[in-house]
Amino acid sequence: MDYRKRICELINDPLVTETDVVTAAEGHGDFALPCFKYARELRKSPQAIAQDFAARLPECGFIERTEVAGGYLNFYLDRAGRVRDVLTEREGKAELAALRESNAGKTVCIDYSSINIAKPFHIGHLMSTAIGGSLYRIYKYLGWKPVGINHLGDWGTQFGKLLAAYEKWGDKSRPLTLNDMLSLYVRFTEESEKDPELAERGRTEFLRIERGEPDAVGTYELFKSTTLAEVNKVYDRLGIVFDSYNGEAFYNDKMQLIIDELDAKGLTEISDGAKIVRLDDYGMPPCLITRSDGATLYATRDLAAAEYRAKTYRFAKSLYVVATQQNLHFRQLFKVLELMGREWAKDLVHVQFGMVSYEGQPLSTRHGHVVFLADVIENTVSAARRIIEEKNPALENKEETAESVGVGAVMFFALGTQRIKDVDFNYDKVLSFEGETAPYLQYTHARCRSVLAKADKPADYDPALLTDDDSYAVIKLLADWNDTVREAAEKYEPSIVARRLIDIAQAYNRFYISGRIITDDAPLTAARLKLTETVADTLREGLDLLLIKAPDRM
Ligand code: ARG
Repeated sequence: MDYRKRICELINDPLVTETDVVTAAEGHGDFALPCFKYARELRKSPQAIAQDFAARLPECGFIERTEVAGGYLNFYLDRAGRVRDVLTEREGKAELAALRESNAGKTVCIDYSSINIAKPFHIGHLMSTAIGGSLYRIYKYLGWKPVGINHLGDWGTQFGKLLAAYEKWGDKSRPLTLNDMLSLYVRFTEESEKDPELAERGRTEFLRIERGEPDAVGTYELFKSTTLAEVNKVYDRLGIVFDSYNGEAFYNDKMQLIIDELDAKGLTEISDGAKIVRLDDYGMPPCLITRSDGATLYATRDLAAAEYRAKTYRFAKSLYVVATQQNLHFRQLFKVLELMGREWAKDLVHVQFGMVSYEGQPLSTRHGHVVFLADVIENTVSAARRIIEEKNPALENKEETAESVGVGAVMFFALGTQRIKDVDFNYDKVLSFEGETAPYLQYTHARCRSVLAKADKPADYDPALLTDDDSYAVIKLLADWNDTVREAAEKYEPSIVARRLIDIAQAYNRFYISGRIITDDAPLTAARLKLTETVADTLREGLDLLLIKAPDRM
């Protein structure tokens, strides 16, 4: 039931809208109407306004009492009625069905992970991969059609260098690995500094790829497939999926049209031989379209990619889950598209996130401090295995559980904090069973399931038995679950779901220790089991949105 709407109808004042009614602060009932913003218009104190509203309120079944406190009008609902409403809604999902209906047919493009070929898949990529992967599930849950795009960094002169290095030093007698490519590239960079001929060779090899010479393209494709094979192993482990791997190279033949249009619209100018779009009027440096040698750039490819996505997917929104460092790039990109008259430019969003450090150390690919994501996952899973061995050696499916706990810990690390904040990866912290972590949530979920496994599923329950403060605290947190997920989508912020799960788990654990669930009192047991079941289902559902598995036993 939509209490905000009902309360608003009861107050029945043109000044008051549904969104003015907010969730009450702890200890102040269920909902509150802050009256401060009407003071000017009504020429009265917020306190007096709250009193007026309270006095005018007609009798109604679902509000037990109201209270004026400061400038707030607080609403205490009839708890039993609300318990029934919340649990019925969570089970039947009628609201969710309506929400899905309202989003049906909307497409959201999500550009995430977007790794670079022949470069390490390091822990820095975790954020984009996790946030994008989670938004994919969140939007899908809400009825949207998500399109996951891995905009591969698969074009550039570095592939000529790598090709030259591979031809010169590559061991063709065994399968190529991502590590081989990394060392070949490093070796090329070192040796070409001393050897201009080698540097030249890198350039001509790139031309051969550009011209499509079969052997050169063949090797380039090998670089690509080798990288993808390794990266896909990580994606599989994390439950990450993509609908498209169209990367930078895909737009080779799609940029000229854009460049021609930019020219025709008089947006470009030549500066030192390069073609640029000036953005001085918007307080930004120019956007580089082609270099003086005619080569296109990252931005040129992104212009073509945005256009392609608009035409192909007809998106309602197109997201780019990319680190804050690229903020200028995306502002320029969106502005150029706007100047080109693309009406959909307003639907492009740079979903940015902060920096990751590792055990207190900043990461830098350039200075050699590379931490591979696959290693981090492997280490976390091994640590989880040790913890399980210690805490619960008799557990069945130990391996599967260790995988869920380890991977979950990594995912929650990436998704549990507001994305704009910098985060530091620390094994002890992410694996703690007590902090705000995946293992804590998984453990709480397993705790619920183990209670449920001990009893038969009750046929019905009496909501009046869940009106005590501990039970009701859980109910309130379950109440606006759909709004929570919707808000996470609207703000592109999976941490909103994560936060709510932590709150639910903490409230449930307080409820759990405040009294036994299974007792001789059959009706009380039935009610508490019902609450436990709803919590378990919500935790599982929410964890799934964060790409985290919820094992039944731990
Ligand atoms: N490959 C780029 C990088 O690693 C990220 C690409 C993001 N997506 C985009 N459409 N520009 O920095």
